[in-house]
Order: sequence, then C-alpha cells, then structure tokens
Amino acid sequence: MTIKLAVVGAGLMGGGIAQVAAVAGHEVVLRDVTNEALERGLEAISTSLNRFVAKDKLTAEAAEQARARITTTTEYEAFADADLVIEAVFERIEVKQEVFRELDRVCKPDAVLASNTSAIPITAIAAVTERPEAVVGTHFFSPVPMMALCELVRGYKTSDETLASARSFAESVGKTCVVVNRDVAGFVTTRLISALVVEAIKLVESGVASAEDVDTACRLGFGHPMGPLTTVDLTGVDILRNATMNIYEETADEKFFPPETLTRMVAAGDLGRKTGKGFYTYDR
Ligand SMILES: NC(=O)c1ccc[n+]([C@@H]2O[C@H](COP(=O)([O-])OP(=O)(O)OC[C@H]3O[C@@H](n4cnc5c(N)ncnc54)[C@H](O)[C@@H]3O)[C@@H](O)[C@H]2O)c1
Repeated sequence: MTIKLAVVGAGLMGGGIAQVAAVAGHEVVLRDVTNEALERGLEAISTSLNRFVAKDKLTAEAAEQARARITTTTEYEAFADADLVIEAVFERIEVKQEVFRELDRVCKPDAVLASNTSAIPITAIAAVTERPEAVVGTHFFSPVPMMALCELVRGYKTSDETLASARSFAESVGKTCVVVNRDVAGFVTTRLISALVVEAIKLVESGVASAEDVDTACRLGFGHPMGPLTTVDLTGVDILRNATMNIYEETADEKFFPPETLTRMVAAGDLGRKTGKGFYTYDR
C-alpha cells in the first residue's frame, strides 16, 4: 500500500528518506525553509538515483517516475493530507519542537508524526503536541538508500498503532526495523557504539594497543565492517563526544564518560575526516 509522505528537511537524511519512499511508490512532499535548500536536496536525490541507474540497480524509467513523485514546498499547509510525516531537520531540540508544533497544527488527526533524531528523546518532542501517542522515532542511517536498518523509537506515550504504521512504512522502503521500547539516551545503536568507542579509546590511551590494531581486532575478530576509531573519524569526533556525554549525563554510568583523548581532540579541532585529522590522517 502506498501512502502520502511528508518530509521536513531536505538535507542528507530528509533527502535520502524522500528518495527511498519515492522509489517504493509513495507520493512525497518535501519541505525546507528555502527554495535553495530544496533545490540542493533534489539535486542530491537525482545524483543518487543516477548512480543506481548506472549500476543497473534501477531502470532509468523507474528513476524518472521516482523523481516525479517528489514535490517540494516551503509551506506546512501542503502537509494537510499526509498520512505520515518524517522530520529530519537540525539535531536541536528547540528546532524540532517548533516543527512539531506546526505539524500538530496542520496535519490530519490520524497522521503519524515521526522524527529521525539520532538522540533527542521522542517524549520531549511529542510533549509539545496535543497528540503524543501519534509521535514516534524513525531513526534511519546514512546513506539512507544503502543502509538497511531503521531504529523505531517509542516515546513514553507512543501508541502501538503509531509504531505499527512507522514499521509498515520503513519495511515498505526495504528497511529492517529494531524497536527501542524506551527512548533512553542513545537509543540502542548509539549506546552500543558509544560503549565500544569509549573502551577502544581507553585501550589506546593506556598503551595497551595502537588505534590501528584495535580497529583491526574489531574488523577481523568480530567481522565489523570498520573499526570503532575509524567509525569515530567518519561520524565526527565531536558528535561521538556529545553522544557519550549525553548518555553519561542520563545514566551516570562511568563506562560512557568521554575519555580524555576524545575531549582533547575536540578542543584541538581534530574532528575526524571532516577536518582531515582524527585518529587517522586524511587527504582533503
Ligand atoms: N547525518 C547522519 O549521518 C544522520 C544519521 C541518522 C540520523 N540523523 C539525524 O537526522 C536529522 C537530520 O540530519 P541531516 O544530516 O540530514 O542534517 P542536514 O544538516 O543535512 O539537513 C537538515 C536540513 O533541515 C533543514 N531545516 C532546518 N530547520 C528546518 C525547518 N524548520 N523546516 C524545514 N527544514 C528545516 C535545513 O535547511 C537542512 O536542509 C538530525 O536529527 C540528525 O541527528 C543524521
């Protein structure tokens, strides 16, 4: 069954979600704050679709049909008949809450309102609406067209029907879901990677092993596609430090306290791939 999907935010994640939805046959309306942001988003979607065509994973006709299913807007009014809205704006609670106030105002009563937040509690986002039971986390991974996982996150008041609708959409775009029953800091995926990253850095800090050897141990010993320190560099040293600190603040569990190296690297501006230097050095 196809639905009318609305996506707020035409960046990396919003664009990716719009793309996979359109390829699966859903009608998509994509909102951003400026036409320039929407144009950039559409261009990124086209580039990605062309890559799938070049690799024979999609026909040129299917790509064209997918493009035609995506309309854009800077207004919320176009969301009035959406069955599901997925918000993928900046990771700031006040920005997300403002979006959800607007969604609560314009969306039909039975619409499902989802957030792609990586870490903000769904309960805190839902609390600004009159319908917290209809709010759910749909945490897709980057790049959305390639990554098979969707972490579904229940807020304190999320209903079973809302969770089921979110699952049905995620599965319709080819994703496999895991359910996070309470929106604890870091959900499941960020908790796991944070614990691994903190321990990996402690092993390097205390001279037990080099960064390269810790990464190699995880790749060859556990079959991880990349080691934890390579993951930190890719995701951003600052992002991982924030994530571990947020989890530590909520749990008071020492195992999540950001190791000194992580804090020093952020202060020094060694943020990973994006700055050319993290645990490893990169050509920029
Ligand atoms: N990048 C990742 O790897 C990743 C992975 C999983 C989840 N997330 C989460 O997804 C969300 C989006 O991340 P992203 O990487 O796509 O960010 P991004 O910066 O690429 O895109 C955000 C977009 O939101 C737009 N925006 C901001 N305020 C808006 C508003 N009020 N209305 C409409 N559009 C608005 C911006 O103009 C921008 O185009 C964040 O919550 C992030 O934590 C990101």
